[in-house]
Amino acid sequence: MRRLAILLSGRGSNFVALADGVDSGKIPDAEIVAVVSDNPEAPGLAIARERGLPAHALPRESGMTRAVHEGRIRRVLDAAKPDLICLAGYMRIISPELVEAYPGRIVNIHPSLLPKYPGLHVQRRAIEAGDQESGCTVHYVDVGIDSGPIILQKRVPILPGDTEETLSARILEQEHVVYPDAVNMALAEVSSRP
Ligand code: GRF
Repeated sequence: MRRLAILLSGRGSNFVALADGVDSGKIPDAEIVAVVSDNPEAPGLAIARERGLPAHALPRESGMTRAVHEGRIRRVLDAAKPDLICLAGYMRIISPELVEAYPGRIVNIHPSLLPKYPGLHVQRRAIEAGDQESGCTVHYVDVGIDSGPIILQKRVPILPGDTEETLSARILEQEHVVYPDAVNMALAEVSSRP
């Protein structure tokens, strides 16, 4: 079985798309071995518990350094022995140490056609720029922000009258399609490495 770990901070709809993919066999021979959130109130974490998945709330408590916080996350991940770590709306920057601990084994989904619009509020930025299209990207995580090698992208049109909300919803629908496909590709790639 291929082992997936999920890191999330909020709603968790991309996590659900991956969990559904595992359950339906769209992501075959895989299991979710850890769902980790820096936000104990994340709806995605509650969904993980409801689904009987190993769910870990690891908040960065006041006074806790980033290194100590990430060390806690790292211990949970190391114990879960994931083949692939999937960021699914995880709102913290992954340190170079964590990236290097799992080289080429961390993937992220981002709601723009990278390399255009890394960072936050990217749907609004695409509308404000007058772009005619947007989309989503699944990529390997490197030490930069939303900058690693691209695995898959999906385009969507930006329509007249679109708001940040309507465009985000149109992109999100495609995120849920593309993320399981990209995870399959990344798992195949990871397992083909010497
Ligand atoms: C998605 O738009 C994803 O692309 C971005 O954060 C959002 C997370 O949504 N990285 P959800 O928590 O998966 O519903």
